[in-house]
Amino acid sequence: MSKIVVIGSISMDLVMETDRIALEGETVFGQRFSMVPGGKGANQAVAIGRLSQVGDEIIMLGSVGQDSFGSVLLQNLKDNNISVGNVGTVPQSSGVAQITLYNDDNRIIYCPGANGEVDPKNWTNEWQAFENAALVVLQNEIPHEANRAIAVFCKEHGIKILYNPAPARSTDLELLDFVDYFTPNEHECQELFPDESLEELLEQYPEKLIVTLGTRGSIYSDGKKIHQIPALKTKPVDTTGAGDTFNGAFGYGLSQGLPVFEALKFATLASHLSVQKFGAQGGMPTMKEMKESSYYEKNWNFE
Ligand code: RIB
Repeated sequence: MSKIVVIGSISMDLVMETDRIALEGETVFGQRFSMVPGGKGANQAVAIGRLSQVGDEIIMLGSVGQDSFGSVLLQNLKDNNISVGNVGTVPQSSGVAQITLYNDDNRIIYCPGANGEVDPKNWTNEWQAFENAALVVLQNEIPHEANRAIAVFCKEHGIKILYNPAPARSTDLELLDFVDYFTPNEHECQELFPDESLEELLEQYPEKLIVTLGTRGSIYSDGKKIHQIPALKTKPVDTTGAGDTFNGAFGYGLSQGLPVFEALKFATLASHLSVQKFGAQGGMPTMKEMKESSYYEKNWNFE
């Protein structure tokens, strides 16, 4: 049984599938349009909510707009075992991500809207949600100042933080000392540490810096040696949200007591399953689906 608090963006993804990208001034035909719930914060919460078991408590904090997207996004979180009592509703429009699916990959333009209004300075009862949390999960689609205030609070209260600095911003390194797990992808890592090699960095931050490498898996150091956990091979249907699934599952595994190496293998399987269906959240597996996979390892010991 564990309590996990996710603070972050809750957005509607407007997804266009195309076999040609428009050039400047050009119009091209798309193949299909869909609207599906997304936002890195909500995605990570849903990844955890789907894996959660009776007795776990998953709490989301963030903001949605006072618009038709807002109510759909809240209902979606509730449908995925997430408590939304601390999600605010603000006059701004809900966050939106315009996603183009092309050539087996995605391109995203994100407009924060309500997500930009998350401000712990206005919180009162919200801080109670953090009491006895096994883990707090943060990403970068809400203001940096919000993340900083939460990181400082958690450090003071001995609460562990998993921080996924996506998309990367120059202020992220301010939070490094406050967080327990820091999970950029390799491009974000390069942007944040332009002058250091991956190997040097991993050795500098053992069991803290975990770098995701796309189809090559993920990599970290346990303090003695560097481990690369290979990705599981598949032809993806949609890679949107694969990183969010990975972070959510990694956090869930840690909260259930898995060591980092095992939690990373668990996360690798979850993201492998997630890319086999459409939508950021569409393929996120339940624990039952994880257990049905031939890659599921019995020693993970989820009841
Ligand atoms: O990580 C994927 C998510 O990032 C999408 O769901 C979209 O909302 C974007 O901002």
